[in-house]
Amino acid sequence: MDLSFFTDKITAGLSQLRYGQEPEALYEPIRYIMALGGKRIRPLLTLLGAHLFTDELGPVVRPALATEVFHNFTLLHDDIMDQAPLRRGQPTVHEKWNANVAILSGDVMLVRAYELFLDVEPQLLPGILRKFSRTAAEVCEGQQWDMLFETKPDVSIGQYLDMIRLKTAVLLGFSLELGALLGGAAPADADLLRQFGVDVGLAFQLRDDLLDVYGDAATFGKRVGGDIVSDKKTFLLLTAQAQATAAHQAVLNQHIGQPVVNAEAKVAAITAVYNELGIREQTEACINRYFQRALEHLGQVAAPAERKAVLHHLALQLMERES
Ligand code: IPE
Ligand code: IPE
Ligand code: MG
Ligand code: MG
Ligand code: MG
Repeated sequence: MDLSFFTDKITAGLSQLRYGQEPEALYEPIRYIMALGGKRIRPLLTLLGAHLFTDELGPVVRPALATEVFHNFTLLHDDIMDQAPLRRGQPTVHEKWNANVAILSGDVMLVRAYELFLDVEPQLLPGILRKFSRTAAEVCEGQQWDMLFETKPDVSIGQYLDMIRLKTAVLLGFSLELGALLGGAAPADADLLRQFGVDVGLAFQLRDDLLDVYGDAATFGKRVGGDIVSDKKTFLLLTAQAQATAAHQAVLNQHIGQPVVNAEAKVAAITAVYNELGIREQTEACINRYFQRALEHLGQVAAPAERKAVLHHLALQLMERES
């Protein structure tokens, strides 16, 4: 069974969602961000996780969409926090409307995400809501660490990995665990799938950080260099800081933690340091290590190999993604 079978279910499910009508300035931004598309990987992971254990995907669709609506809520707020002008190749909600609109539309999306769990069968609902709530709080924790690290001069790679686990990876892990639980998996298998998702998620955020420097704005759909401009403590920057010669260190010190005079010049200077140190290749190697570790968890899940192959295939696509 190929991926389009699952993406079609998500697209059809999304087209049936109704967020609300008035005031238009509350609901129109939600329709806008949701219509911009994106890869829809979180609900896809939920469906694929469920499919390992059941053929009955009907009841899985709405809870799967909860992960996508929640994710899009985080994007509205993240783009304010990161002062990002572009999302999925189009103006961000706070640019097209304003920050207050993006905050409140985001808030109501979080409410809608919770509502999408209401049809989950009663025996499973409390456990799933507990896990979702923990995940959602962890995403906020990761987002706050990410912001605090912008002005923190001595972030370690370990702290960075913890931060991306919280802001990004746990939601991918939850999406898979959700699917497994709805599909009737044993708790041990649901947990292995969560661990698979967390490792895929770490690799996924590393890839995102890599694309933020080396991506093509047209395909990436976001402003390239944004992380450099805002002093994000990414794996790329932290690795460069650890390996910098005195000359590299001087370039880094000239830009990091300093007021931005010329954003393009800053991006060019720091990218040049990355290039000289082979940061791109080192980041790719790190991505690969997490991907391999992810596959070890998937290998242990008690489910048919041909069904697991679809998940393996999707994870591989995500490691090589350009958008
Ligand atoms: C963007 O997520 C935010 C990160 C966690 C890196 P995606 O890369 O899944 O964004 P869309 O939904 O496909 O646009
Ligand atoms: C965002 O990380 C993670 C969440 C939205 C929770 P980024 O800030 O790197 O995501 P992008 O690059 O803006 O999509
Ligand atoms: Mg961002
Ligand atoms: Mg961010
Ligand atoms: Mg990013």
